[in-house]
Amino acid sequence: MPSTPASATALRVGVFDSGVGGLSVLRAIHETLPQATLIYAADSAHAPYGERSDDDILRRSEAMAAFLHAAGADVLVVACNTATAIAIEPLRLHHAGWPIVGVEPGIKPAIAASRNGRIGVMATTGTLRSARYQRLLQAHGARVQVFAQPCPGLAHAIEQGRLDDPELLALIERHCAPLRAHGVDTVVLGCTHYPFVARQIQAALGPEVLLLDTAHAVARQVARVVEGLQPHVSAPGTLPQLWTNGDPQQMQRLAGQWLGFPFLVQRLPA
Ligand code: DGL
Repeated sequence: MPSTPASATALRVGVFDSGVGGLSVLRAIHETLPQATLIYAADSAHAPYGERSDDDILRRSEAMAAFLHAAGADVLVVACNTATAIAIEPLRLHHAGWPIVGVEPGIKPAIAASRNGRIGVMATTGTLRSARYQRLLQAHGARVQVFAQPCPGLAHAIEQGRLDDPELLALIERHCAPLRAHGVDTVVLGCTHYPFVARQIQAALGPEVLLLDTAHAVARQVARVVEGLQPHVSAPGTLPQLWTNGDPQQMQRLAGQWLGFPFLVQRLPA
Protein backbone atom coordinates (compact mmCIF):
# COMPACT_ATOMS: atom_id res chain seq x y z
CA MET A 1 0.00 0.00 0.00
CA PRO A 2 1.64 3.34 -1.01
CA SER A 3 2.05 5.79 1.88
CA THR A 4 0.60 9.32 1.85
CA PRO A 5 3.07 11.79 0.24
CA ALA A 6 4.13 14.44 2.78
CA SER A 7 2.58 17.22 0.69
CA ALA A 8 -0.84 15.57 0.24
CA THR A 9 -3.81 16.37 2.42
CA ALA A 10 -5.47 13.53 4.25
CA LEU A 11 -9.10 12.95 5.02
CA ARG A 12 -9.85 13.21 8.74
CA VAL A 13 -11.99 10.55 10.33
CA GLY A 14 -13.29 11.46 13.81
CA VAL A 15 -14.28 8.53 16.01
CA PHE A 16 -15.71 8.51 19.52
CA ASP A 17 -16.85 6.07 22.16
CA SER A 18 -17.61 6.23 25.87
CA GLY A 19 -14.07 4.93 26.38
CA VAL A 20 -11.63 2.45 24.88
CA GLY A 21 -14.25 0.21 23.22
CA GLY A 22 -14.28 2.13 19.96
CA LEU A 23 -10.62 1.24 19.42
CA SER A 24 -11.98 -2.07 18.06
CA VAL A 25 -13.68 -0.03 15.33
CA LEU A 26 -10.70 2.32 14.91
CA ARG A 27 -8.44 -0.63 14.12
CA ALA A 28 -10.78 -1.80 11.37
CA ILE A 29 -11.02 1.74 9.94
CA HIS A 30 -7.22 1.97 9.85
CA GLU A 31 -7.05 -1.36 7.97
CA THR A 32 -9.63 -0.16 5.44
CA LEU A 33 -8.44 3.46 5.07
CA PRO A 34 -4.71 3.40 5.95
CA GLN A 35 -4.11 6.89 4.59
CA ALA A 36 -6.82 8.68 6.55
CA THR A 37 -5.89 10.75 9.59
CA LEU A 38 -7.68 9.23 12.58
CA ILE A 39 -8.79 11.30 15.55
CA TYR A 40 -10.25 9.24 18.38
CA ALA A 41 -12.01 10.68 21.43
CA ALA A 42 -12.58 8.47 24.49
CA ASP A 43 -15.06 9.85 27.02
CA SER A 44 -13.66 7.59 29.74
CA ALA A 45 -14.34 10.14 32.50
CA HIS A 46 -18.05 9.56 31.80
CA ALA A 47 -18.03 5.85 30.97
CA PRO A 48 -19.98 3.65 30.97
CA TYR A 49 -22.74 5.16 28.86
CA GLY A 50 -24.81 1.98 28.96
CA GLU A 51 -26.11 2.59 32.46
CA ARG A 52 -26.71 6.36 32.08
CA SER A 53 -29.96 8.16 31.27
CA ASP A 54 -30.80 8.99 27.65
CA ASP A 55 -30.32 12.69 28.46
CA ASP A 56 -26.80 12.08 29.75
CA ILE A 57 -25.89 9.95 26.73
CA LEU A 58 -27.22 12.65 24.41
CA ARG A 59 -25.30 15.40 26.18
CA ARG A 60 -22.01 13.47 26.25
CA SER A 61 -22.37 12.34 22.62
CA GLU A 62 -22.92 15.94 21.57
CA ALA A 63 -19.82 17.05 23.52
CA MET A 64 -17.68 14.40 21.82
CA ALA A 65 -19.11 15.24 18.39
CA ALA A 66 -18.47 18.95 18.95
CA PHE A 67 -14.83 18.22 19.85
CA LEU A 68 -14.29 16.16 16.71
CA HIS A 69 -16.07 18.70 14.54
CA ALA A 70 -13.77 21.43 15.87
CA ALA A 71 -10.80 19.11 15.20
CA GLY A 72 -11.75 19.20 11.51
CA ALA A 73 -13.18 15.68 11.10
CA ASP A 74 -14.63 15.21 7.59
CA VAL A 75 -16.75 12.33 8.83
CA LEU A 76 -17.90 11.28 12.31
CA VAL A 77 -18.01 7.66 13.43
CA VAL A 78 -20.08 6.96 16.54
CA ALA A 79 -18.11 3.84 17.57
CA CYS A 80 -20.53 3.04 20.36
CA ASN A 81 -23.73 1.01 20.06
CA THR A 82 -25.27 2.82 23.02
CA ALA A 83 -24.56 6.33 21.71
CA THR A 84 -25.74 5.29 18.24
CA ALA A 85 -28.98 3.92 19.67
CA ILE A 86 -29.76 7.03 21.70
CA ALA A 87 -28.02 9.92 19.99
CA ILE A 88 -27.32 9.37 16.30
CA GLU A 89 -30.58 10.85 15.07
CA PRO A 90 -30.27 14.09 17.12
CA LEU A 91 -26.59 14.34 16.10
CA ARG A 92 -27.53 14.08 12.41
CA LEU A 93 -30.20 16.74 12.86
CA HIS A 94 -27.87 19.06 14.72
CA HIS A 95 -24.96 18.60 12.26
CA ALA A 96 -26.84 18.50 8.96
CA GLY A 97 -24.46 17.89 6.06
CA TRP A 98 -21.77 16.23 8.20
CA PRO A 99 -21.58 12.53 7.35
CA ILE A 100 -22.17 10.47 10.51
CA VAL A 101 -21.76 6.68 10.63
CA GLY A 102 -22.98 4.64 13.60
CA VAL A 103 -22.62 1.11 15.00
CA GLU A 104 -25.51 -1.29 15.56
CA PRO A 105 -25.71 -4.86 16.85
CA GLY A 106 -25.20 -7.15 13.84
CA ILE A 107 -28.57 -8.92 13.94
CA LYS A 108 -28.76 -9.30 10.17
CA PRO A 109 -25.36 -11.01 9.70
CA ALA A 110 -26.15 -13.18 12.75
CA ILE A 111 -29.38 -14.41 11.10
CA ALA A 112 -27.44 -15.23 7.95
CA ALA A 113 -24.84 -17.15 9.95
CA SER A 114 -27.07 -19.02 12.40
CA ARG A 115 -27.91 -22.66 11.67
CA ASN A 116 -30.40 -23.24 14.48
CA GLY A 117 -32.18 -19.85 14.38
CA ARG A 118 -31.27 -19.08 18.01
CA ILE A 119 -29.23 -15.89 18.39
CA GLY A 120 -27.86 -14.11 21.44
CA VAL A 121 -27.24 -10.37 21.61
CA MET A 122 -24.86 -9.12 24.31
CA ALA A 123 -25.19 -5.35 24.71
CA THR A 124 -25.61 -2.57 27.25
CA THR A 125 -28.90 -1.94 29.02
CA GLY A 126 -29.09 1.41 27.18
CA THR A 127 -28.83 -0.20 23.74
CA LEU A 128 -31.35 -2.95 24.47
CA ARG A 129 -34.01 -0.62 25.90
CA SER A 130 -33.74 1.81 22.96
CA ALA A 131 -36.44 2.29 20.33
CA ARG A 132 -33.76 1.98 17.65
CA TYR A 133 -32.84 -1.55 18.82
CA GLN A 134 -36.53 -2.52 18.89
CA ARG A 135 -36.86 -1.31 15.29
CA LEU A 136 -33.79 -3.32 14.26
CA LEU A 137 -35.34 -6.41 15.82
CA GLN A 138 -38.67 -5.82 14.10
CA ALA A 139 -36.96 -5.32 10.75
CA HIS A 140 -34.81 -8.45 10.88
CA GLY A 141 -35.64 -10.62 13.88
CA ALA A 142 -39.00 -12.13 12.89
CA ARG A 143 -37.73 -15.43 11.46
CA VAL A 144 -35.43 -16.30 14.38
CA GLN A 145 -35.40 -16.33 18.16
CA VAL A 146 -33.31 -13.50 19.53
CA PHE A 147 -32.23 -13.65 23.17
CA ALA A 148 -31.09 -10.24 24.41
CA GLN A 149 -28.57 -10.32 27.23
CA PRO A 150 -27.95 -6.98 28.97
CA CYS A 151 -24.42 -6.95 30.38
CA PRO A 152 -24.32 -4.28 33.11
CA GLY A 153 -20.83 -3.80 34.49
CA LEU A 154 -19.01 -5.46 31.61
CA ALA A 155 -17.94 -2.35 29.64
CA HIS A 156 -16.86 -0.73 32.91
CA ALA A 157 -14.75 -3.75 33.87
CA ILE A 158 -13.12 -3.82 30.41
CA GLU A 159 -12.43 -0.09 30.73
CA GLN A 160 -10.30 -0.94 33.83
CA GLY A 161 -8.05 -2.97 31.51
CA ARG A 162 -7.48 -6.11 33.62
CA LEU A 163 -8.95 -8.48 31.09
CA ASP A 164 -8.12 -11.75 32.86
CA ASP A 165 -9.16 -10.55 36.29
CA PRO A 166 -11.20 -13.28 38.12
CA GLU A 167 -14.02 -10.77 38.78
CA LEU A 168 -14.25 -9.90 35.10
CA LEU A 169 -14.27 -13.59 34.17
CA ALA A 170 -17.06 -14.21 36.73
CA LEU A 171 -19.09 -11.35 35.21
CA ILE A 172 -18.64 -12.81 31.73
CA GLU A 173 -19.75 -16.21 33.01
CA ARG A 174 -22.85 -14.63 34.61
CA HIS A 175 -23.84 -12.94 31.34
CA CYS A 176 -23.04 -15.95 29.15
CA ALA A 177 -24.78 -18.65 31.23
CA PRO A 178 -28.34 -17.66 30.16
CA LEU A 179 -27.29 -17.64 26.49
CA ARG A 180 -25.78 -21.11 26.86
CA ALA A 181 -29.03 -22.28 28.46
CA HIS A 182 -30.99 -20.90 25.49
CA GLY A 183 -28.85 -22.99 23.12
CA VAL A 184 -27.81 -20.09 20.90
CA ASP A 185 -25.34 -20.93 18.13
CA THR A 186 -24.48 -17.30 17.22
CA VAL A 187 -23.81 -14.37 19.53
CA VAL A 188 -23.66 -10.72 18.51
CA LEU A 189 -21.16 -8.58 20.41
CA GLY A 190 -23.43 -5.53 20.53
CA CYS A 191 -21.02 -3.24 22.40
CA THR A 192 -17.68 -2.12 20.99
CA HIS A 193 -15.94 -2.89 24.29
CA TYR A 194 -16.73 -6.61 24.10
CA PRO A 195 -14.30 -7.61 21.30
CA PHE A 196 -11.53 -6.91 23.86
CA VAL A 197 -12.75 -9.99 25.77
CA ALA A 198 -13.91 -12.07 22.78
CA ARG A 199 -11.52 -14.86 23.80
CA GLN A 200 -12.97 -14.96 27.33
CA ILE A 201 -16.57 -14.81 26.03
CA GLN A 202 -15.81 -17.62 23.56
CA ALA A 203 -14.41 -19.72 26.41
CA ALA A 204 -17.61 -19.15 28.44
CA LEU A 205 -19.98 -19.91 25.54
CA GLY A 206 -18.05 -22.85 24.10
CA PRO A 207 -16.06 -23.23 20.89
CA GLU A 208 -19.05 -24.11 18.68
CA VAL A 209 -20.74 -20.71 19.20
CA LEU A 210 -19.98 -18.10 16.53
CA LEU A 211 -19.21 -14.57 17.80
CA LEU A 212 -19.90 -11.62 15.51
CA ASP A 213 -19.05 -7.93 15.73
CA THR A 214 -19.59 -5.21 13.17
CA ALA A 215 -16.23 -3.36 13.21
CA HIS A 216 -15.30 -4.29 9.63
CA ALA A 217 -18.78 -3.63 8.29
CA VAL A 218 -18.64 -0.16 9.87
CA ALA A 219 -15.19 0.48 8.38
CA ARG A 220 -16.51 -0.48 4.93
CA GLN A 221 -19.44 1.91 5.42
CA VAL A 222 -17.02 4.71 6.38
CA ALA A 223 -15.02 4.00 3.20
CA ARG A 224 -18.21 4.25 1.10
CA VAL A 225 -19.22 7.51 2.79
CA VAL A 226 -15.85 9.23 2.32
CA GLU A 227 -15.56 8.32 -1.35
CA GLY A 228 -15.45 11.57 -3.25
CA LEU A 229 -15.23 13.77 -0.12
CA GLN A 230 -12.58 16.49 -0.26
CA PRO A 231 -10.60 16.97 2.99
CA HIS A 232 -11.64 20.34 4.37
CA VAL A 233 -8.44 20.88 6.38
CA SER A 234 -5.50 21.19 4.00
CA ALA A 235 -2.86 19.53 6.11
CA PRO A 236 -0.84 16.39 5.50
CA GLY A 237 -1.77 13.19 7.33
CA THR A 238 -0.46 12.74 10.85
CA LEU A 239 -0.20 9.90 13.36
CA PRO A 240 -3.55 8.74 14.74
CA GLN A 241 -4.41 10.90 17.75
CA LEU A 242 -6.11 9.25 20.72
CA TRP A 243 -7.70 11.84 22.99
CA THR A 244 -8.92 10.73 26.40
CA ASN A 245 -10.37 12.43 29.45
CA GLY A 246 -9.56 9.26 31.43
CA ASP A 247 -6.15 7.90 32.36
CA PRO A 248 -3.71 8.52 29.45
CA GLN A 249 -1.42 5.69 30.60
CA GLN A 250 -4.31 3.28 30.54
CA MET A 251 -5.14 4.39 26.99
CA GLN A 252 -1.47 4.02 26.00
CA ARG A 253 -1.37 0.48 27.36
CA LEU A 254 -4.68 -0.78 25.95
CA ALA A 255 -4.24 0.88 22.57
CA GLY A 256 -0.66 -0.45 22.43
CA GLN A 257 -1.94 -4.00 22.95
CA TRP A 258 -4.84 -3.62 20.58
CA LEU A 259 -3.98 -1.40 17.61
CA GLY A 260 -0.69 -2.62 16.18
CA PHE A 261 0.18 0.79 14.66
CA PRO A 262 1.80 3.91 16.14
CA PHE A 263 -0.38 6.62 17.69
CA LEU A 264 -0.20 9.65 19.94
CA VAL A 265 -2.17 9.87 23.21
CA GLN A 266 -3.45 13.34 24.14
CA ARG A 267 -5.40 14.70 27.10
CA LEU A 268 -9.02 15.69 26.53
CA PRO A 269 -10.59 18.02 29.12
CA ALA A 270 -13.28 16.15 31.11
N1 DGL B 1 -18.81 0.77 23.85
C1 DGL B 1 -20.14 1.18 24.02
C2 DGL B 1 -21.14 0.42 23.18
O1 DGL B 1 -20.79 -0.01 22.12
C3 DGL B 1 -20.62 1.64 25.35
C4 DGL B 1 -20.27 0.89 26.55
C5 DGL B 1 -20.67 1.72 27.75
O2 DGL B 1 -20.08 2.80 27.90
O3 DGL B 1 -21.57 1.32 28.48
O4 DGL B 1 -22.28 0.28 23.56
